Amino acid sequence: MSHNIKPSTKIHTINDAIKLSKKRLPKLVFDFIDGASGDDKLAEINSFALDQIRLEPKVFRNVEKRILSKKFFDFDFDYPFGFAPMGMTNLSWPEADKMIAIESSYNNIPTCVSMASSTTLEDMFNFSDGHSWMQIYIFQSEEFIMELLNRAKNIGYKVLILTVDVPILSRRARDDRNGFGYPFKIGPKQFLDFALHPQWSLTTLLKGSPRPMNYVTSKTGDQIFRRKESRGATDWDTLKRIRDAWKDKLIIKGVMNFEDAKKIKESGADAIQVSNHGGRQLDSATAAINALPVIRKTVGKDFPLIFDSGIRSGSDILRALAFGADFVMLGRPLMYAVGADGAKGLRRIINLIKEELSTNLGLVGLNNINEVDEKIIAEKYLKDIKY
Ligand SMILES: Cc1cc2nc3c(=O)[nH]c(=O)nc-3n(C[C@H](O)[C@H](O)[C@H](O)COP(=O)(O)O)c2cc1C
Repeated sequence: MSHNIKPSTKIHTINDAIKLSKKRLPKLVFDFIDGASGDDKLAEINSFALDQIRLEPKVFRNVEKRILSKKFFDFDFDYPFGFAPMGMTNLSWPEADKMIAIESSYNNIPTCVSMASSTTLEDMFNFSDGHSWMQIYIFQSEEFIMELLNRAKNIGYKVLILTVDVPILSRRARDDRNGFGYPFKIGPKQFLDFALHPQWSLTTLLKGSPRPMNYVTSKTGDQIFRRKESRGATDWDTLKRIRDAWKDKLIIKGVMNFEDAKKIKESGADAIQVSNHGGRQLDSATAAINALPVIRKTVGKDFPLIFDSGIRSGSDILRALAFGADFVMLGRPLMYAVGADGAKGLRRIINLIKEELSTNLGLVGLNNINEVDEKIIAEKYLKDIKY
């Protein structure tokens, strides 16, 4: 797969990608991607809360040339955003992982590889030309985790993300209703769903149904991905062990509470990712963006903060940066884009987000993304910034 990809002509907004992917994907797959936990509302609330933050146009600022490049840790990225870790991405279309990795290399931005990814850590590092960061959960055997850390280090991974907001996997009603689980069970209901979406089903049949490849290729006994297994035994000692075992950059993902943030910073982590897992864990949590200013205030202005959950546009990226993030991650938009039109869909969505980011940066009167702060937010909405 080369970098030379023609952007989809079928997609003009993120909603186009959502609609198209809903049509092309089996219901069971679309609902796995789109779904949230419990009452299924928080994913929408995340985006709605971002949307409520209105920006202020400014004039006479000479914004003809605009810089979008952003330094994060020691990396010089071309844009202030990257791709969030997502397990079993190839469900959205065969080779989705590869498309996402290639897109990250093409744009010189990072892509986070889930330990439950459907492509090995090794292949993702190659496809992304080294733009991969690795994400782990702590569950099942810690021996396996240590094997993954060693593997990642030997490949050349420089950044590890420890996701901590899934001590217990939340229930997602849509998955239960559709009989979605791993390993996949194919009964009459699922068979009908697949038959009604022949393009996805035939391509998946041809390429093989996605498997958690980091488990399949493990050398530490028989590693089987058990999605619903408890991760509840994780505690502050776990963080200490991971910090001791991983000497390069360590990001703690899934933090919403300022006291947690303070303790994580004191424990020697290099960055925090403020996130409510895209609304897929505590359904009654606040919109992730509301936690960001409080956490920024707690950790101080220089501690690296990443934000995800609900980002759907270039304006949303500006909003998150204005609320205190240094860097932003995209989740579902990648899956919708690939589900809608494969690599072309992904290229198109990323182009749209970049274009909007650049245009709107100029419209709020700035020509450098590194100058974004709360002054781009309309006065009326500033009361939400609690620092
Ligand atoms: C289908 C899917 C799978 C995910 N898998 C993981 C995962 O394996 N590890 C992880 O840390 N987060 C995972 N997440 C959460 C994302 O990394 C991210 O926090 C979330 O999608 C951001 O919200 P957004 O989708 O509204 O952009 C997953 C999210 C989705 C939608």
